[in-house]
Order: sequence, then C-alpha cells, then structure tokens
Amino acid sequence: MAPAAVETQTVVIPETSAFKTSILTGQYKELAPKFDPEAESGLKGYQAAKYPHYLPTWDPNEKYPPLEPFEHYEHGKDADPTYPNLLPKGQVTVTHLTPTIGSEVRGIQLSKLSNAGKDELARFVAERKVVAFRDQDFVDLPIEQLLEFGSYFGRHHIHPTSGAPKGFPEIHLVHRGAGDNTIDQYFANRTSTVAWHSDVSYERQPPGTTFLYVLEKPEAGGDTLFVDAVEAYKRLSPAFRQRLHGLKARHSAVEQANASRARGGIVRREPVINEHPIVRTHPATGEKALFVNPQFTRDIVGLKKEESEAILKFLYDHLAYGADFQARIKWEERTVVVWDNRVTQHSALVDWKDGARRHLARITPQAEVPFETPFEEE
Ligand SMILES: [Fe+2]
Repeated sequence: MAPAAVETQTVVIPETSAFKTSILTGQYKELAPKFDPEAESGLKGYQAAKYPHYLPTWDPNEKYPPLEPFEHYEHGKDADPTYPNLLPKGQVTVTHLTPTIGSEVRGIQLSKLSNAGKDELARFVAERKVVAFRDQDFVDLPIEQLLEFGSYFGRHHIHPTSGAPKGFPEIHLVHRGAGDNTIDQYFANRTSTVAWHSDVSYERQPPGTTFLYVLEKPEAGGDTLFVDAVEAYKRLSPAFRQRLHGLKARHSAVEQANASRARGGIVRREPVINEHPIVRTHPATGEKALFVNPQFTRDIVGLKKEESEAILKFLYDHLAYGADFQARIKWEERTVVVWDNRVTQHSALVDWKDGARRHLARITPQAEVPFETPFEEE
C-alpha cells in the first residue's frame, strides 16, 4: 500500500493520575494532604493531634443547596478611626511589618471585644490588609463561642470541599497531618507551592474580614504570604487602570470541586461560576483593589481568549512579583491572623520537610457582592 500523503502518529496519553487531574483542574493548583487518622490519634509513633476536636471530618452524604443572597452590613463603616477600643493607648503594641500591608498587635484579646471594638477591628484590618494578633485565647474557647464572635462580621461561609470539625461545617480547616509526605509527589510535577488566591472568590458574595488561627505548626516553615491588592492597583499607570475599570472576570469553583472528586473527597455544594469586577471598591475605606487570582479567575468577560489570557497573566505576575507590596506572616502559637479578603490575596507555603503537623482553623464571614466605583485620576 502506498504511504499516505500525510503521515499521522498516534500519541498515547500517559495514564498517570497527575495527568488526568491536570485536565480536570486546569490552572487550579491542588496541594491536597492525605488524612491518616491513626497518625493523628497518636499511633505509628507520632504525637497525637493537640486539638483532636478540630480534626477534619467529612460526610459524603452531606449536601447543601446553592447559597442564597443575603444583605451584608459592613461594620467597618461605623468604626472610630482612632481605634480607642481595639488599640487602647498604653496597653497595645502595634508593629507595622511593611508601610502598606501587615501589622502585628499584642495586648488586646479579640474574643473580648465589644461591638465597637469589632467595628474597629473590621476597619483596622481593611486599612492594614492583614494583622497578626498574638497571644489570643481562641484555641481555648468553645467553637460555638468563636462562631458567635465571627457571625458579627457576616454570614458564615461553609466551604464546598474542605473537611470540618465534627458538627461545625462553618469552620474551614487547613490540616497537614504528622508524617504526611504527599508534598513529595506534588514536587515531582511542580516547582513551587505558591498559589495566590483570594478565598472562594467564585462565590457571589466572597468573604470579607477573615480569621485564621493556628492550632499546631512546624518549628519553622508554613508561613503565609499576603499581597496588598490596593497597592498593586495603585502601581499601575492611570491609562491601564482606566482600561481595567468596567471589566468583569469570571471566577470558577469547578476546578476545585473536580480536584476534590478526583481524590475521592466531598463536594457539599455544586460548584458555581460568578462574574466580578476586576477592580473592586472596599465598602468601608473606598480603596480600590485588583480582584483577579490564578486559583479561581478564568477569563475576562467580553475579551477574546488571547486578550484575556495576556491581561490576566500580566496581573497575576504583577501581584506575585510585588515583593515590595507583600507581607509574610510568621505563625506563633496562639496567633489569630485577620485579613480582609477583598483587598488582599494570600498563599500558604508548604516548605517544611520534617513531616511536622500543621493545623489551622478559619472563620470565614461572607461580605457584599463585589462592586466597583468609577475610575478617578489621582
Ligand atoms: Fe486561602
């Protein structure tokens, strides 16, 4: 038989799970740990988890309906900007980590704040973007009390795919157990664990004032990086800022749900896709922030694929390379880190190699539907 004019070659697609998962998850970076109940309960030569009532549980039969819209009240608008309740003079030490983003506060107990103090907390965190409050009592308090505290700031978000303490789906857990070496497999395919994102930005009403507290941590490593999305916006030229105004981007929960299903995890709520302005305005400070992130943002509405990809790549690189508008939070025992998810992005760092347990809990009040105010020359 004469040879065909055009020779074709059959390419065999490798059947590795990493390859299949990458089709399902696109640019979403998946760093899923492996949960070993025996190691966490103190068997196999490991120390038992210090806070066992915070170990993750999953109920595959637990299904939630789509989230309903709700009216968010922004308490930061009511705050006294001199912070008399949150930062009483002579009692509290405030150390700024950088000029624009990040502070460390000692000398105030968040759980004991009055409502006026909570208003100030929302405002102060919006101003400073992320604040580490040291020597807090969250880990000693009943979870019910912490949820009551958090509910002041907005409706609790229930995460679609994460494990939660038994009976408390509102608590999002970040847990990497003792002896978990799954990160070695991750590094076989990836160069870095940095995955910038704003939490669950795919929701119609993404979180605002957000609380993350540490239960156990490695001796060194496992810091959290934050980027100031307001400063990132200000660094752009007026012409480019003006072009971004009015544009919306689509944020998707699909890839995160796919990743969970691919590893046999749960999907409590069917994934959603929502459009949000690329430049959003903070309801208390009026500051404008870039609101696109590589974990959940997929494309810009109304642009062609190449145009959308080029602009998004530029914005992701701009945020990621901006070490001069980023802060790195080092965890200490009894630290509660509070950030404003509307004006920051963050990334966990999985950089420790000694198999130490890292265990944190998040309280995630949802906020307003993101909105933008018109471009202004500055
Ligand atoms: Fe996060």
